[in-house]
Amino acid sequence: MRTFDVLVIGAGAAGMHCAAQVGQGAAGRGWRVGLLDHAEKLAEKIRISGGGRCNFTNRTVGPDNFVSADPAFARMALKAYTPNHFIALVRKHHIPFHEKHKGQLFCDRSSEDLIAMLQRECQDAGVQWLKPHSVTAVQWADGCFRLDSTAGPLQARHLVVATGGLPVPKIGATDWGLHLAKQFGHRLIDTRPALVPLTFDAAHWAPFVELAGVSLPVHSRGSEPAAPWFDEDLLFTHRGLSGPAVLQASSYWSPGQPISLNLAGQDVSPTELAAQWAGLASGSRAQLDNWMAQQLAHWPRRLLNTWLNTSLPEGFAQRRVAELGKKHWLALAEQVAQWQLVPTGTEGYRKAEVMRGGVATADLNPKTLASRKVPGLYFIGEVVDVTGWLGGYNFQWAWASAVAAARGILAPGA
Ligand code: FDA
Repeated sequence: MRTFDVLVIGAGAAGMHCAAQVGQGAAGRGWRVGLLDHAEKLAEKIRISGGGRCNFTNRTVGPDNFVSADPAFARMALKAYTPNHFIALVRKHHIPFHEKHKGQLFCDRSSEDLIAMLQRECQDAGVQWLKPHSVTAVQWADGCFRLDSTAGPLQARHLVVATGGLPVPKIGATDWGLHLAKQFGHRLIDTRPALVPLTFDAAHWAPFVELAGVSLPVHSRGSEPAAPWFDEDLLFTHRGLSGPAVLQASSYWSPGQPISLNLAGQDVSPTELAAQWAGLASGSRAQLDNWMAQQLAHWPRRLLNTWLNTSLPEGFAQRRVAELGKKHWLALAEQVAQWQLVPTGTEGYRKAEVMRGGVATADLNPKTLASRKVPGLYFIGEVVDVTGWLGGYNFQWAWASAVAAARGILAPGA
């Protein structure tokens, strides 16, 4: 029987950071810290993230950048371990990085730099690796966890679950953490793919298929009451919509409901846009299709042609703009500034960047991520019902929740 003071299951972003922080914080105490993962290849999600350059955090992070049944839950952990703390670690390891738009920080060279950094931190902390290994059963009795694993029987005083979310099963995602939470009486918030492309039924999408590859800046919004507007790029695909605008909106989308897109190129309501257009068009002898091409000059030509062909009644595009009345302008402005579409589905966990839902925060301590059901049990990272926006927020949650748990383990009751 191998015995540990702390055993972390899942050596991804959260698991490696937590094991390193506990191991380093416990220096001199003679603690044994173990880190178990079933994957052959370490930290594949970090490797593929940010197009291979890992968008590892964002300059400004707050609870508003996350979706959760309890939006305030993440506040304490995020405040205790900020992007600046993680940036200091990256700098300590001399990893070059740069800022892209909206405060997103990426590695200059490759995500491999971050994986090597986390491995080195674990090594400095004396973390013992158990990989590739998996756990087949967990029991808790007399203040101790007993595990059956492919590495033999294991025992630990503290058990940290950092097995991540369900996206990209082919690189090792499992629902093990969710099952374990259930086994110990934790409630789960329904899980579903988030930061995911949205799809439409083939017949509805047929007119737009030829737009695959077209991209333009838009304002986008999911269907839920709390959904914010995002100001990002939209991408047409063969099966539907993608690009940052739609990935962000997808995290706030409920099946059967419409997403909203404003393609006007400015933050205006349909009423404001209609009034603007009516004013500009008054006295003009231009034909609507030519006039629209000028107003929507930021639209790729292919998009404009498809829109004129599919959205307007026969012959309407050839009318003189000066002839159009208030209700015509409002109808046109609504189609442009408040395009509402009901997706039939998503591209699923195969293409999702993150999982929405997970272990309910109501059963976790917001300061330490400790279970309120079983002493010594912790859930960190994506397995918890805290889902970040696109832009480095999910990694920042992984780092912050890892440190919260490490501090809770090192100084219980502090
Ligand atoms: P993570 O998935 O990193 O680690 C979980 C670990 O647990 C894995 O090593 C897995 O093998 C292991 N595991 C799972 N089940 C197990 C079991 N039963 N037994 C043993 N081990 C098990 N975020 C961001 O902020 N910036 C970005 O640029 C990107 N980019 C991005 C691109 C793509 C394509 C994806 C799919 C995701 C992103 N993300 C992202 C999201 C980000 O990768 C994700 O939120 C974090 O990796 C979550 O960290 P965790 O440590 O919680 O899980």
